[in-house]
Amino acid sequence: MSDIEPSAVEALLDAAFGTDRFERTAYRIRKGMNAVPALSFAAVEADALIGTIQCWPVAHRAADGAVTPLVMVGPVAVRPDLQRGGHGRVLMAHMLAAAETAADGALMMIGDPEYYGRFFGFTVDATGAWGLPGPYEKRRLLARAVNGHMVPTGAGKIGPRL
Ligand SMILES: CC(C)(COP(=O)(O)OP(=O)(O)OC[C@H]1O[C@@H](n2cnc3c(N)ncnc32)[C@H](O)[C@@H]1OP(=O)(O)O)[C@@H](O)C(=O)NCCC(=O)NCCS
Repeated sequence: MSDIEPSAVEALLDAAFGTDRFERTAYRIRKGMNAVPALSFAAVEADALIGTIQCWPVAHRAADGAVTPLVMVGPVAVRPDLQRGGHGRVLMAHMLAAAETAADGALMMIGDPEYYGRFFGFTVDATGAWGLPGPYEKRRLLARAVNGHMVPTGAGKIGPRL
C-alpha cells in the first residue's frame, strides 16, 4: 500500500459502499485501530487504484474476561466499473495466502456468505453467540480459522483489540 495515496483508497471505498459507510457496524468493531500492513493490499492497474482490501486487529471478549485476538477482514472493494472481473477474488486470495503465516488470530468479517463462503471458506458456524457493537444480519457474520488460530465459538463481544 505504500505508494497508494490514502485519499485514493477513501475515494474507492466511497464509490463501492457509499459515503454513509462510517455508520456501519464494521467500522465500530475496529474503532481506533490501524490496519494490519501485512494483510492489507491494493490492486493497481496503469497507476490507478482499482481494488483494496484491509484487515484490522480486533478481539472476542468473553464474560469471564478471556480475550481471543481476531483479525477482521474488510472492507474489500473493487472499483464499480470493474466489479465481477475477478479482482475481488485475487485480492482475497492474496490476503488469505499472507494470513496463513501472518495472521495472529482467526479471521472474521461481515459479508455476503454467497461470496465469502462459496470461494473462501467463511461460515456462520462459530459466530451465533457473538455480539457486535451495532446492527447486523446474523447470516452475514462470518469467520474461519487460519494459521493455526481457531474461531472462538462461545458468547463474547467483538470489538477493537485495545
Ligand atoms: C464484493 C466485491 C469485492 C467482489 O469483487 P469482484 O471483483 O466484483 O468479484 P469477483 O470477480 O472476484 O467474483 C465474481 C464472482 O463472485 C460473485 N459475486 C460477486 N459479488 C458477490 C456478492 N456480493 N454476493 C454473491 N456473489 C457475488 C459473482 O457473481 C461472480 O460469480 P461467477 O464467477 O460465478 O459469475 C466487489 O464486487 C465490490 O467491491 N462490491 C461492493 C463492495 C462490497 O460489497 N464489498 C464486500 C463487503 S466487505
